[in-house]
Amino acid sequence: MSRNAFVIGGSGGLGSAICRRLAGEWDTVAIGYRSRADMAQALAEEIGAHCAAVPVQCDLGDAGGVIKAIAGFAEKAGGIGTMVFAGGVSIKQPFVSKIGEAAWREVIETELMGFIRVVGATLPIFRRQQLGNFVSVVSVAAHSYPPGDALSAVPKAGIEMLGRAIAKEEGRFGIRANMVAPGIIDAGLGAIFLKDLYSEEIWETQRNRIALRRFGTGDEVAQAVAFLASEQARYITGQTLIVDGGFSL
Ligand SMILES: NC(=O)c1ccc[n+]([C@@H]2O[C@H](COP(=O)([O-])OP(=O)(O)OC[C@H]3O[C@@H](n4cnc5c(N)ncnc54)[C@H](OP(=O)(O)O)[C@@H]3O)[C@@H](O)[C@H]2O)c1
Repeated sequence: MSRNAFVIGGSGGLGSAICRRLAGEWDTVAIGYRSRADMAQALAEEIGAHCAAVPVQCDLGDAGGVIKAIAGFAEKAGGIGTMVFAGGVSIKQPFVSKIGEAAWREVIETELMGFIRVVGATLPIFRRQQLGNFVSVVSVAAHSYPPGDALSAVPKAGIEMLGRAIAKEEGRFGIRANMVAPGIIDAGLGAIFLKDLYSEEIWETQRNRIALRRFGTGDEVAQAVAFLASEQARYITGQTLIVDGGFSL
């Protein structure tokens, strides 16, 4: 099996934690980024002691660019074993009644259409190899909905369904697809929300709704991703692993 991983959104809070975790387990990690080349470069230097780390620019809005980035990396590295999708829009938390068409288009275009483009570019590679897996970072909000999270939850529901469709249709070619659904995580967008979005009292109420009584870390999400990407999960496909400390129970 090709021991190369590609992480879309590798410059983000969750994506960078995933790259750090995969670096210990995979030979090569492609750190996909859109705008933060400096972040991707610094991360490549940091994890470079554990794997070959390569920053790869990949804008999900550019269909041709997605194909070029993924096919180019696969050719140079000698295949792709796991494609991790952790890219997402930096949203606010408006209620549905306040969301206009432009905001809907942005999340659907970047997240759902972006994932569709990544799948389109990656499936031929996995088919040729007769092996490979997708792991997508989605959200617990598509399972237990916290008001204000529609811009995140709606495209994630589509990504999850596409993951299940891939699992069912492509399994006969040795291809798996799974999802990790984080709850409230103190990394990336979640860390910004924890700092700026609501008062301390509101976050304390939210924390008390979590069975484990604490917010998660980026590495706790990354560990679930690494497991699903690994050979240990070789008989698991089409599944969503919720990593939320029991928030959605
Ligand atoms: N953090 C949480 O608590 C949490 C919880 C549940 C679900 N999630 C979901 O997990 C995903 C990642 O979240 P995060 O917290 O890591 O967010 P983040 O820190 O804001 O990172 C977002 C990542 O997506 C990339 N990106 C944005 N637009 C892109 C585009 N058009 N093309 C390619 N890449 C693009 C960014 O690249 P650049 O920075 O290089 O532009 C960055 O690497 C999101 O979908 C989010 O909704 C997060």
